[in-house]
Amino acid sequence: MKKIALAAAIAAIVAAPAFAQTYPNKAITMIVPFAAGGPTDIVARIVAEPMSRALGQTVIIENVAGAGGTTGITRGAGAAADGYTLMMGHMGTHGAAPALYPNLKYDPAKDFAPIGVAAGTPIIIVGKKDHPANNLKEFIEWAKKQGDKSNHAHAGIGSVSHSTGILLNSIMGTKPTFIPYTGTGPALNDMMSGQVDYMTDQIVNLVGQINAGTVKAFAIATAARSPALPNLPTTKEAGIDGYEVSAWNAVFAPKGTPADVVKKLEAALNSALDDAGAKKRLDDLGAVSPVGNDRGSIALQKLVETEVARWTPVLKAAMAASK
Ligand code: MLT
Repeated sequence: MKKIALAAAIAAIVAAPAFAQTYPNKAITMIVPFAAGGPTDIVARIVAEPMSRALGQTVIIENVAGAGGTTGITRGAGAAADGYTLMMGHMGTHGAAPALYPNLKYDPAKDFAPIGVAAGTPIIIVGKKDHPANNLKEFIEWAKKQGDKSNHAHAGIGSVSHSTGILLNSIMGTKPTFIPYTGTGPALNDMMSGQVDYMTDQIVNLVGQINAGTVKAFAIATAARSPALPNLPTTKEAGIDGYEVSAWNAVFAPKGTPADVVKKLEAALNSALDDAGAKKRLDDLGAVSPVGNDRGSIALQKLVETEVARWTPVLKAAMAASK
């Protein structure tokens, strides 16, 4: 029996480089764990196109929504580790989720082959167009008066919009009614028709609507203003100290994906980030593209570990405060 096992192991080792030499020889699926049209989907579709060109095979987006993105990520984590199933995860699925899902079916830091960050995405506090508040201070006063009468939209427990929203409410001391969606694409549609009052969402989903005046932005939760929205004050300028949050979107493969395949995928993502068209689209949407050592699998692994460690106590405290 031992001889057969040894032969199989040798065959696998010998085959690995050959497998990587032929990879990819068919289309690649990238799971986006939220509904089409939201920030995760937007970033994925922008980088998928130049990645397809770099790899010589189409990267097909598959939206698998639910449970704040953890449904799609769980499916991706269980896929064959052959480089043909990727995931676009983010600060929610691979940072906040462990604090909010006691029985999470994956470990963000152990169950993936990280490929690299695709986009940093500052968070914006945004309300419906006819929201009575006209600045962040008025918004906070309004939110405090509403009790549970205000409708706060998000993309499911543990999503970026949910976790950054919990944090904002804990700072404001507010307890709104949460309205969950399968993504902040659909949430934004309802906000534009006035059905929900506010949310905290990623800039790439909002720049167009803010500039069109179909939603009302109150502040951006970064230390400096965004070049994409130079007139939008930071939370600190507008009156909230201590609410500085940014999200990020990143490409993952299942754990066990061959190292040579990971290298090819890293190179394809980097070529997408350097692609003039993709870079312009992401810059115009306010994304912050990773450069240098912030790119690639090693940096992403460190980011996941740091973000889980950062968000776990913050969210547990915020959840306790909301009780
Ligand atoms: C979220 O975590 O809020 C998601 O990014 C929303 C989305 O991409 O639809």
